[in-house]
Amino acid sequence: MLILVTGGAGYIGSHTCKALAQAGLTPLVLDNFSTGHPWAVQWGEALTGDLADREWLQAVFQNYDIQAVIHCAASIEAGESMQYPAKYYRNNFVNTLNLLEAMVSSGVKTCIFSSTCAIYGEPQWLPLTENHPQNPVNPYGESKRAIERALHWFSHAYGLRYGALRYFNAAGADLDGALGECHDPETHLIPRILFSLLGGEPVPIFGTDYDTPDGTAVRDFIHVTDLAQAHVRALDHVQNQQANLTVNLGTGRGYSVRQVITTVEQVTGQRVPVREMGRRPGDAPMLVADVSLAKALFNWQPQYSDLPTIVETAWHWHRKTYAKVE
Ligand SMILES: NC(=O)c1ccc[n+]([C@@H]2O[C@H](COP(=O)([O-])OP(=O)(O)OC[C@H]3O[C@@H](n4cnc5c(N)ncnc54)[C@H](O)[C@@H]3O)[C@@H](O)[C@H]2O)c1
Repeated sequence: MLILVTGGAGYIGSHTCKALAQAGLTPLVLDNFSTGHPWAVQWGEALTGDLADREWLQAVFQNYDIQAVIHCAASIEAGESMQYPAKYYRNNFVNTLNLLEAMVSSGVKTCIFSSTCAIYGEPQWLPLTENHPQNPVNPYGESKRAIERALHWFSHAYGLRYGALRYFNAAGADLDGALGECHDPETHLIPRILFSLLGGEPVPIFGTDYDTPDGTAVRDFIHVTDLAQAHVRALDHVQNQQANLTVNLGTGRGYSVRQVITTVEQVTGQRVPVREMGRRPGDAPMLVADVSLAKALFNWQPQYSDLPTIVETAWHWHRKTYAKVE
């Protein structure tokens, strides 16, 4: 079964391609390589092109016998989206409409979508359940919410079946060391910490006076391999049950920035240089997922998401690959 993975050369998309291949499915990567990497395409063919190119997209669906789509491609920086909202509406929302229209016109009925906990905004309760009110505090989160609504209405209009997967903080690297996290600029906490140990800048800690146990922000880190495997489960569920789903993907456990730094120090045996800074606008003190729905619906359970495993796999990949990456 051929599965089109948009953004398949990116961090989560490439790990998802590996999980698909391991499950006996064939990934077909569609990527414009704006933030993705040729070295990350190790499972399946790569088609280089942009979701903005509607004619090319239609041709892709005509030329390949695509059974389902996993849609990871997006612009992903919440901070940047505050400066350039149009980029986020265009690349995330408008280009997703292009994709969905191409799917509809070629009869492809299943879409698994990379959504985000950023659609919730400031938590009104914790852990965050899927029925939590949606008040995104940046255009990135807004663009993802708009896509979820579009999926709903495309399902209504055309019988599209979708899985909206609301990721919390993806982290870690492939267990075999074949893939890892490589964003430029890197804004995610764990790779930033690791780069600081590989000669980079001290790690900024944004906010040390939150109402959390140690004053730093708390996040729910999910190992990228667990996340990738959830796509395979969700795809199977949506196709076999012919039912849409919207689920959180996290662990249900939060770690503070300081706890992450301490774990990195324990795993690497090195002291992490830090720089304490003020809070960033829009950063919630704590974001933790309620993951009972994903467990109940498709029997998914994170296996590799304890913090030491996340840090060990990421450190292994960063040390091995850092010098080779562009
Ligand atoms: N990384 C996280 O912690 C996290 C958390 C929540 C949600 N997400 C979502 O997961 C998805 C993947 O994130 P990631 O961390 O792997 O990011 P990434 O930047 O590594 O991957 C995105 C990929 O999409 C490609 N792309 C972007 N725009 C494109 C376009 N118009 N046409 C074709 N390809 C395009 C990029 O080249 C890249 O390969 C995104 O949708 C993101 O919003 C990520």
